[in-house]
Formats: sequence, structure tokens, C-alpha cells
Amino acid sequence: MFKHEIFEKNSILLVIGILIVVSIGGIIEIAPLFYLESTIEKVKGMRPYTPLELAGRNIYVREGCYTCHSQMIRSTRDEVERYGHYSLAAESMYDHPFQWGSKRTGPDLARLGNKYSDEWHRAHMVDPRQVVPESIMPGYPFLATTELKYNTIEKDLKANQIAGVPYTEEMIANAKADLVSQLDEYSDGYDGLMERYPGAKVRDFDGNPEKVTELDALIAYLQMLGTLVDFDLYNEEENRR
Ligand code: HEC
Repeated sequence: MFKHEIFEKNSILLVIGILIVVSIGGIIEIAPLFYLESTIEKVKGMRPYTPLELAGRNIYVREGCYTCHSQMIRSTRDEVERYGHYSLAAESMYDHPFQWGSKRTGPDLARLGNKYSDEWHRAHMVDPRQVVPESIMPGYPFLATTELKYNTIEKDLKANQIAGVPYTEEMIANAKADLVSQLDEYSDGYDGLMERYPGAKVRDFDGNPEKVTELDALIAYLQMLGTLVDFDLYNEEENRR
């Protein structure tokens, strides 16, 4: 017989006992992680966000899009069939803070890029019911008319650099120029931008070349989501292992 009665009759001893047992379990779970070099698998294609995408991401956070949308596709079959390849840890490694979200009033957005045209996004952001009649998403018509404030974009990149995103000094120095260059494929800054951010999508996202608007930045961000990793390549490499 164990002397279990001691614990049953003395609450302090019971609490101490619980703490000991729980910490043993905790150490067994956590200790192996200390011996891994990295918990994030390296994946080809991931690059820091362009200044324009980063500005769009800031608007996404400011407007609280994450309160209705997740950016994290689970590995279960229903999710993969609906949204595409499940999210990899590497895909959110440059997100500070991450945008996984915890609620899906609307669909997951992790693989949204290239799913719709810019025109679709423009109409949808102004009034979602123009393109999805049964939508309950609020409209954000002011984004199309509000000029994007990007005078602090270098500082934004710098802050991300401090948090561990590999922005180079060159990227930070060129942040403002790169932001504007991404809206015009014929600009002088095009080559520099593509060198710094391979594969960046360059065009006037809001359909109004006169003005750099918040909608430009937001659509640039949305069209990039989930497109950085080439999953045909990724699956091939996985199969070769
Ligand atoms: C109150 C909840 C809510 C908020 C806040 C919200 N959405 Fe939505 N969103 C929805 C719902 C519901 C849908 C599905 C209907 C539709 O397509 O409009 C949706 C759909 C979408 C889609 C289409 C996705 C697809 O794959 O068809 C995009 C893109 C989108 N939202 C972007 C945004 C952005 C960007 C913001 C922030 C500026 C935002 N949403 C804020 C509820 C919301």
C-alpha cells in the first residue's frame, strides 16, 4: 500500500506533489527542443516582405483582418482540399507578429495570392457584396482613397531586422524607392527591386497610377500570400528524401 493518505489529507503536500509530477512531464516534452538547431525547416523561396507588402501587412493588422481570417492551413485532409498545401513553419517565419489567427468568420487566407485578380480585390475591399452577394464582410472603401503613409517604412524594416528578419542595410536604405518601384514595372528602380526581392509582383495594384494608396499596399500583400514557396519543387524534394 502506498501512503496516499498523506496527500489526501494535506492540501499543501498534494499541491507540491502535483507540481513535481507535472514538471517531470513538462521537462520530457520540452527538453528535446533544446537539442534541435532549429525548429523551422529551411524552405526555398522564402524572402522578407517587400516594403510595399510590409506596408500592406501593417494595414491588415491595423484593420483587424485577423479577427475574422486565419493564415494557417492545418494538415487535415478537408483543409488541404479546400485551401491547398498545409502551411509550413517557414512560411510565417518573417511575420512579427504572426497572423495565424484564431477564428474563421471568413475563409483562411494563407494561400490567397493569385486566386483572384486585382480587380476582384478592388471591388471586394470597397464592398464585398459586389462580388460575393451573400458576404457578411465589412467594406473598407476608404483604403482606395487614403494615401499610403510610408515615411517611416525604413524604420519598419529596421524593427523587423531587430526581430530577426534578414533585411540588409541595402534593403533598408532603398525601402522608400523600392516601395514606389513595385507599383510601376517601367520604373528605374525595377531591377534593384527584383534583385533584392526575387519574384516580387510589380504593377499598379489599385488601378490608379496617380496615387499610392493603402489599397495598393494591401492588395500587394494579399496577392503575395502563400506564393513564395514553390510547392511543385517542395513536394519533389520531399519525395526524394
Ligand atoms: C467581420 C469579419 C471579417 C473581417 C473583419 C474581414 N473579413 Fe474578409 N471575409 C469575411 C467573410 C465572411 C468572407 C467570405 C465572403 C466573402 O468572400 O466576402 C471574407 C472573405 C475575404 C476574402 C476572399 C477570400 C477567398 O478566398 O474567397 C478576402 C481576400 C478577404 N476577406 C480579405 C479581408 C481583409 C484584407 C480584411 C481586413 C481589411 C478582412 N477580410 C476583414 C469576413 C471578414
